[in-house]
Amino acid sequence: MKNILLTGLAIGLLSVSCTPKSNAATEAQKVSTSTAEQIAQGKTIFENACKRCHELPEPTKFTSVEWVGIMNSMAPKAKLSDEQHQWVYDYVVSVKK
Ligand code: HEC
Repeated sequence: MKNILLTGLAIGLLSVSCTPKSNAATEAQKVSTSTAEQIAQGKTIFENACKRCHELPEPTKFTSVEWVGIMNSMAPKAKLSDEQHQWVYDYVVSVKK
């Protein structure tokens, strides 16, 4: 009797400890800023979409805060999707000063 109770408890503990863990991993992936691949995509988009109207700006010329505002006004001009907007932003702020 005692053994059955303990086994039940152990199974219960296992399932609670596993489930939130895998959810957390999925959540982290969803909210995480870009992967290296997305930053590379951002660079390509930046180099192609952002030189149509003017010279390509130097990513290091602006702070990450300034880039938020710049991207908010430029992403619609360059007709970027929300994802592309995010990738380009992640690329420009990833460039080392
Ligand atoms: C449809 C034309 C057009 C496209 C495409 C465009 N821009 Fe611009 N951009 C402008 C114009 C016009 C200005 C100057 C006037 C202004 O600031 O709105 C400008 C200014 C800027 C500036 C200077 C802002 C400052 O405060 O000095 C930056 C940086 C910039 N753009 C970045 C980008 C980036 C990054 C992209 C690609 C996502 C992009 N632009 C795409 C038209 C464009």
